[in-house]
Amino acid sequence: MCQYVIIEKSPALKGEILLSGAKNSVLVIMTSTLLASGKSKLYNVPISDDVYQMINLLTSLGAKINLNEQENSVEIDTTNVDKWTVSPENMKKMRASILVMGPLLARFGKADVALPGGCVLGARPIDFHLKGFAKMGVTIEFFEEFIKASAPQKLKAEKIVFEYPSVGATENILMAATLTKGKTTILNAALEPEIFDLISILTKMGAKIKILPPATIEIEGVDQLKSVEHEILSDRLEAGSILLAAAVTGGTVKLPNAPGNFMDLFLDKLSEMGHTISVEKNGAIDFKATKTPKAVSFKTMPYPGFPTDLQAPMLAAQCLASGTSTICETVYESRLIHINELQKMGAQISLNGQTAVVKGVDALYGANVIASDIRASAALVIAGLAAHGQTIMTGVHHLKRGYQNFDQKLASLGAKIKMEDSVS
Ligand code: EPU
Repeated sequence: MCQYVIIEKSPALKGEILLSGAKNSVLVIMTSTLLASGKSKLYNVPISDDVYQMINLLTSLGAKINLNEQENSVEIDTTNVDKWTVSPENMKKMRASILVMGPLLARFGKADVALPGGCVLGARPIDFHLKGFAKMGVTIEFFEEFIKASAPQKLKAEKIVFEYPSVGATENILMAATLTKGKTTILNAALEPEIFDLISILTKMGAKIKILPPATIEIEGVDQLKSVEHEILSDRLEAGSILLAAAVTGGTVKLPNAPGNFMDLFLDKLSEMGHTISVEKNGAIDFKATKTPKAVSFKTMPYPGFPTDLQAPMLAAQCLASGTSTICETVYESRLIHINELQKMGAQISLNGQTAVVKGVDALYGANVIASDIRASAALVIAGLAAHGQTIMTGVHHLKRGYQNFDQKLASLGAKIKMEDSVS
């Protein structure tokens, strides 16, 4: 079914939103349940299309899964998991599918998977994952788009240095290492909040993991892990997107379950724009927008740098700020496609390689726009809330992959937004 979102210029958003669990935590944590045999239960699970897709993938391996949409929980019973082959159909729908490799190699010594899909943000290779596995003694063979990975002997604990702190490669090697005898060391590891969430559940399962500053993870392999219950960390990217929606409408919002302590640089940039923010000890955020936002510049970087996943929503807010903002995307080679759509709405943006220069304008105007990835969809919704007239956004499947009921949450704050089904 084809859907579109209609957005109209909205009054100042006002109210309180309970955030969903983090998409980028729940997907990897769902794969981590494969490391143990038994029934795990996850709470604060976002009900989004990527979660449905991960359920299909794990079910295809033999897991029995019970999703409770009212309770936002999922029970995953991995007792009868007896397969290590994932079909291209299950791999292609999202990038996170590659995260089954680590758990399957740890549990069975084998993983046969197709190359993963996901948002088109540039080449997105998986060489760091594969080089790490190879160092641990895994033989990797390619058959067209299929990867056959197997460890002739048991996996070996090794020192693995990443050229770049890849989130997915860190997660995959970390999960494989939990059941690998000896000490595995990951240097230049990614330490995104979602990786802390993964480490938190793995530790409950019985894994022995230490984080050594600045960016080393040490894992002492154990013989067995047990199934546990775990509450998924709240979504900092959903939090950021909602704050920006409030910002462009001049609104006031509270996010009582926000992971505000993991959002420092992003929140600093909002303050620099002139918005008022307070973060409580438990991470809860109180936000009041300024009516006269100033443009700020930023560069995306691995955590604790400015998150690439908030680059598009933040860029949308810069379109209406006073002054000029320079935004440099360093994480992905092709994550500025939303600029074309924002230009249709009257934004003044020029692009030089990976750097966008945004000159603030007095007004944006509604247009027909197409979302090209998850975060671009949030950016276009944010721009639409501040634009005169009506914005119609297609490519809604991107929004539904990464956000649970984003339209309904914004509508509950007073936004004029609705999702409709196309008749054609
Ligand atoms: N990279 C390589 N080789 C690799 C792995 C990564 O060259 O083997 C490159 C990528 O092409 C990219 C950069 O390294 O240019 C960063 O990739 P990373 O591996 O860190 O990202 P990921 O694990 O594929 C996760 C999130 C992304 C988020 C990035 C960065 C999940 C499921 N996805 O992706 O989330 O942008 O980390 O923080 O956790 C999103 O939520 O919209 C999203 C794209």
